[in-house]
Amino acid sequence: MKLAVIGTGYVGLVTGTCFAETGNQVTCVDIDERKVEKLNNGIIPIYEPGLDVLFNRNTAEGRLKFTTNLAEGIEGAEVIFLALPTPPGEDGSADLKYILKVADDLGPLLKQYAVVVDKSTVPVGTAEKVRNMISKGAQVDFDVVSNPEFLREGVAVEDFMKPDRVVIGTQSEKAKTVMNKLYAPLVRQGNPVIFMDERSAEMTKYAANAFLAVKISFMNEIANLCEKVGANVDDIRRGIGTDSRIGKRFLFAGIGYGGSCFPKDVQALAKTAQDNAYDFKILKSVMDVNAQQKSKLLPLIKDHFDGNLKGKTIAIWGLAFKPYTDDIREAPALENIRALLSEGAKVTVYDPEAMENVRNLLGNQITYAHTSYAALDDADALVIMTEWPLFRTPDFNKMNLLLKNKVIFDGRNVYELDQMKEVGYTYYSIGRETVMPEVHQSA
Ligand code: UDX
Repeated sequence: MKLAVIGTGYVGLVTGTCFAETGNQVTCVDIDERKVEKLNNGIIPIYEPGLDVLFNRNTAEGRLKFTTNLAEGIEGAEVIFLALPTPPGEDGSADLKYILKVADDLGPLLKQYAVVVDKSTVPVGTAEKVRNMISKGAQVDFDVVSNPEFLREGVAVEDFMKPDRVVIGTQSEKAKTVMNKLYAPLVRQGNPVIFMDERSAEMTKYAANAFLAVKISFMNEIANLCEKVGANVDDIRRGIGTDSRIGKRFLFAGIGYGGSCFPKDVQALAKTAQDNAYDFKILKSVMDVNAQQKSKLLPLIKDHFDGNLKGKTIAIWGLAFKPYTDDIREAPALENIRALLSEGAKVTVYDPEAMENVRNLLGNQITYAHTSYAALDDADALVIMTEWPLFRTPDFNKMNLLLKNKVIFDGRNVYELDQMKEVGYTYYSIGRETVMPEVHQSA
């Protein structure tokens, strides 16, 4: 099939590349000339494992192309994906200006029937707005379909190629046939394509992300309570996750969720509730809990150093909001770095992928180490913010030589408590007892 993808951000680029991989002819359109030039020169502007292989193959074989010209991009396309940004406005609602502008431009350019697909996460009722906007200028028949994207950064290619489900909101039989044909290669293992009306599809995306944010925040609160009653949140996770009604995933307590989706989507859904005079109490609590959780470690760090961080050097492992991405949007690390700096601490950081993004934001306010160990050199403590696998099995003998004090504040529960007892570290983590080195008293 011939497809167009408008917007070459994260979702657009993955969508375009993966649909080219299943044999479609894909043209991606973006107004950003520099970005399109880069993409045409084989440079992928985001870090996403596995995307480069598919990108290189499909551009080389001519199935994946990039242009700034909308008319040229959509020529002959049976399906036109809108993968445009929906940044939160001041009141938390998703701003639709980019989507509606493209919809406005699209109408007069349509030459034959096409399915226009909302791929971005958009508030309930957006498909209708897009349809009305396109109708103003369109001379031909078209359908607007809501097809929310559930891909996770870091595993986006896999999520796209093997989706748990595909949700499609449309009541048009013609559009259903087109979408079924397009997704058939991705659901051959039997995962469902679920058809529903547009509004329900739009709501499904918000409900999924909000539910996951609730799940995480619930575990973060259980963790906080575990600390008070002397229980271990890891055991609770195993104890409840094996109940198939609860499920094992997204039960990891930590210093809060970040990223481009959960914070934005929870806020936008809360705004939708407010606009519809519904008091969505759980969502409000989730936002509060997450904000509180993000700043959980700082008081512990301060207390450990008797309330004074002036002149102390704090090493930070992990800057990205989660492993396998360079994305630092809403990353707990940023907030913590700023707080540490305002307490007068010096901060040295290491992250396998996200250093450049942080450098662009914080410049020389902090020190950037070349390796995880280099970050520890002469540091007073180590703080772990992202659970990159690299941090899981470090050489503690090497660490002992570099760190001034054997103390770790772990925001992602990367180590086992027994392991920490063995290596003799003071170890603060989330929802578990604090490990203090044993004092050996001489007789
Ligand atoms: C999320 C959704 O999973 C995806 O379906 C949607 O399309 C986009 O938003 P993403 O933001 O890429 O994907 O990351 P995800 O892996 O879901 O993690 C989100 C945040 O939750 C991260 O900050 C992560 O550290 C945190 N998290 C996740 C926890 O704190 N505990 C967990 O158990 C799981």
